[in-house]
Amino acid sequence: MGILHVLFKADDDVRGSKARAILIGMFVAFGGVLFGYDTGTISGIMAMDYVKKTFTSTGSFTASETSLITSILSAGTFVGAISAPLASDTLGRRLGLFISCIVFCIGVALQTASSSQPLLIVGRVIAGVGVGVLSSIVPLYQSEAAPKWIRGAVVSCYQWAITIGLLLAACVNEGTHKRNDSGSYRIPIAIQFLWAIILMVGMVFLPDTPRFHVMKGNFQKARTALCKLRGLKPEDKFIEEELEEIVANYEYEKTLGSTKITDCFKTANHQLKRISTGIVIQALQQLTGINFIFYYGTQFFKSSGINNPFVIQLITNIVNVVSTIPGIALVELAGRRRLLLWGAVGMCVSEFIVAIVGTALPNSQAANKTLIAFSCTFIASFAATWGPLAWVVVGEIFPLRVRAKSVAICAGSNWLFNFVIAFITPYLVDADRANLKSKVFFIWGGCTFLCILFVYLFVYETKGLTLEEIDELYETVSDARKSRGFVPTNKFLHTSPIPIEKETSNDNNTEKATVDFVEKV
Ligand code: BGC
Repeated sequence: MGILHVLFKADDDVRGSKARAILIGMFVAFGGVLFGYDTGTISGIMAMDYVKKTFTSTGSFTASETSLITSILSAGTFVGAISAPLASDTLGRRLGLFISCIVFCIGVALQTASSSQPLLIVGRVIAGVGVGVLSSIVPLYQSEAAPKWIRGAVVSCYQWAITIGLLLAACVNEGTHKRNDSGSYRIPIAIQFLWAIILMVGMVFLPDTPRFHVMKGNFQKARTALCKLRGLKPEDKFIEEELEEIVANYEYEKTLGSTKITDCFKTANHQLKRISTGIVIQALQQLTGINFIFYYGTQFFKSSGINNPFVIQLITNIVNVVSTIPGIALVELAGRRRLLLWGAVGMCVSEFIVAIVGTALPNSQAANKTLIAFSCTFIASFAATWGPLAWVVVGEIFPLRVRAKSVAICAGSNWLFNFVIAFITPYLVDADRANLKSKVFFIWGGCTFLCILFVYLFVYETKGLTLEEIDELYETVSDARKSRGFVPTNKFLHTSPIPIEKETSNDNNTEKATVDFVEKV
């Protein structure tokens, strides 16, 4: 089965416009470009001669300045990620994304205007808040809007966009780094307005997710949104069935608990198990050490004989972008568990080879070549598996009632570990500090070994299931290792039709519609 078959030919029972489902999901993935570009641009900017002259008194950044300026973005993103539900659960996933772009633009404006460290840092924190909000809403929106047969691939496109953003940042930095004026850093920073504007304009035209409307009791809006997403008429039986399943499942979920943040950590609905899976998968994604390469790889590779930092950044970024493509196809073919397991094994082997060869044969030509080759196999293993799948898994394993909050907490875990790693790495590798050099890969390799155990024991196979069927999966299968054999019963299908004309836009109507529906169920 080829990629085109997987992406465009789905099962025979799939109805509605496949191209539309794919295009909408891919457009929202564009948010990943903001994410990737913003995180990727700083290392190149800090290496620019003009920037060093302007932003430091000594002509070079100290380890603590490097650490602070690089990692402060992740502090902002952490705050943004965990506060995202304030917007996404009240105003909607769509407006939440819109607001994240506005916050991001304010941060970009401050960074563009800066010519000293304090304003640059404040701008990075604010832009970080925007990226954080976005990072937890994009996979949420995509998972809730995409049909089940392509959900994993659509969310993986978010990761692909992140990698493209990282690559674009490296290219733009290369284009401006030789300038001896403020354009050297202002151009790469200000370009980010463009990414935000593209996303904002698109969001004006896209619908909110049907599941958000159902959560608010607006069934009519949910139906309209579903019709837009699937390209079908309101009376189509497939729209009816999908909506019934979402509504009935949500009503059932509500009987199990409320929607408060504390409910994200309760045992009802196996929520505690699910949130632990989400938090750990995101933390482990960072602990693989991937951002060691993207934030500090330049220095690391320099010490192994490649002197052109652009070549280094280009190689690592191209490997990252290209290797994400097989991941997008494989997520629906091989499934989540297998892909995560293979990826963890690939990363683990590559990283231990880098660590052992780099430590046993320091500075030899053969060692340097091995180091570069296996760093690339490490990036490729990450890009095709843990990169996209950490986002796919958190987008789909939570019940609607606490989904936005749970995804936000997991994205927060990603950014927290991102921050810690960005902050401590300069101290780990700096010649005057721990000076670990290649030995640092023993730490990352050890963590990827934990990834293998974690997937084997705790990650459920969710390929091909609707979000509502995933609820059933967690309820009926207690051991993740047995999840591949799960067959959904579709217990919420064919309950009772939801009237097409019901007007539910104001509060009274909303309440009445909910009551009517519950009575019927
Ligand atoms: C991670 C980022 C990382 C990127 C690399 C993302 O999934 O969350 O921290 O920089 O992948 O492609």
